[in-house]
Amino acid sequence: MTKRLKMTVAALAVMTVGAQAADVEVLHWWTSGGEAAALNVLKQDLEGQGIGWQDMPVAGGGGEQAMTVLRARVTAGNAPTAVQMLGFDITDWAKQGALADLNSVAESEGWDAVVPDALKAFSKYDGKWVAAPVNVHSTNWVWANKAVLDANGISVPQTWDDFVAALAKLKEAGVTPIAHGGQPWQDATVFDAIAMSTGGSEFYKKAFIDLDPETLGSPTMVEAFKRMDTIRANVDDNFSGRDWNLATAMVINGEAGFQMMGDWAKGEFLNAGKKPGDDFLCFRFPGTQEQVTFNADQFAMFDQGGAVSDEQAALAKAILSPSFQSAFNVVKGSVPARTDVSDEAFDACGKQGMKDLAAAASSGNLFGSMAHGHAAPASVKNAMYDVITAHFNGEYDAETAAAELQSAVELAQ
Ligand code: GAL
Repeated sequence: MTKRLKMTVAALAVMTVGAQAADVEVLHWWTSGGEAAALNVLKQDLEGQGIGWQDMPVAGGGGEQAMTVLRARVTAGNAPTAVQMLGFDITDWAKQGALADLNSVAESEGWDAVVPDALKAFSKYDGKWVAAPVNVHSTNWVWANKAVLDANGISVPQTWDDFVAALAKLKEAGVTPIAHGGQPWQDATVFDAIAMSTGGSEFYKKAFIDLDPETLGSPTMVEAFKRMDTIRANVDDNFSGRDWNLATAMVINGEAGFQMMGDWAKGEFLNAGKKPGDDFLCFRFPGTQEQVTFNADQFAMFDQGGAVSDEQAALAKAILSPSFQSAFNVVKGSVPARTDVSDEAFDACGKQGMKDLAAAASSGNLFGSMAHGHAAPASVKNAMYDVITAHFNGEYDAETAAAELQSAVELAQ
């Protein structure tokens, strides 16, 4: 090695050590193919700024396991730099004073003017920005295999009755009507759409956001659970415990007709090289065409003692930059968390998602997703999960389930 080359190697080694000191450690649950592809957009953006990425993935859709790992890390005095988080979980950590104050970044980047109020309700606590929203997902979508629908003479169902008729046709043809993964958060994701479709906006809000006991135990809730029985009768025998992305794969490969799932499912179709409109269809769950039940992934920065660190500030800034919001959400299946990002780069489903979100927000039909921690705090959410899953697995009939939901929610508060 020449002397000059030796010096360069030494300089590089120093730089590498320096870069490691400026790493961000990010705890998240984006481990499916589509999710990992989206996460890469963020990793590369940061690497381009010389900020290294220490990956802390915790598998498990919906993030329950990730939140368990987070609690253990914080208890051990070893909080990660940044954590993917949903809705009321952000508020809970902020209340405990665990999150860094991002106001300096928010002010210099003008976040207040471009982040919609529905997200700010969770990104801010007590006047302080405590999380940077990366996207807006919504749960009341259906994903369909177009060839399977065409082969069975099924057009996009507009009503619950249309949907039930489509399920019957698929069953008759020997196709699994609904691809589902029997995990509590997935059962609850389906219930988000079923409850909204059964009772409408006012019912959804009273039950899941206001936690009104009468609505929770109402005949409409009984009807919603009866519709869950119909869903249960149209899943395959091996649904129990299946991961959501494996259910999406069943629709991708034509084993199943439909999946009721949030728009992260689109990331799986895209990752498999499938095209919306040609290979797969996206549409709002029948009877929820006007509504959007949303969840937004945000990155909360844990207070490392003192002011927000340079790396945390850089991560937060990168997350909310308009070009990143477009590039990331095109891959993830979600829509931007800023209101001023063009829909130009988005496919038909993404464009519809952006239009639906704006329309629902202005017509008063935008609500936080019960299943994804945007309607009520985790204690209540988990109580709801228990009842929804027990009913889905045949432990309760619809009447008992509504009564159990009412009392479980009361106890959990
Ligand atoms: C949601 C999250 C999405 C997606 C999904 C499945 O809670 O908001 O980004 O990751 O879980 O893992």
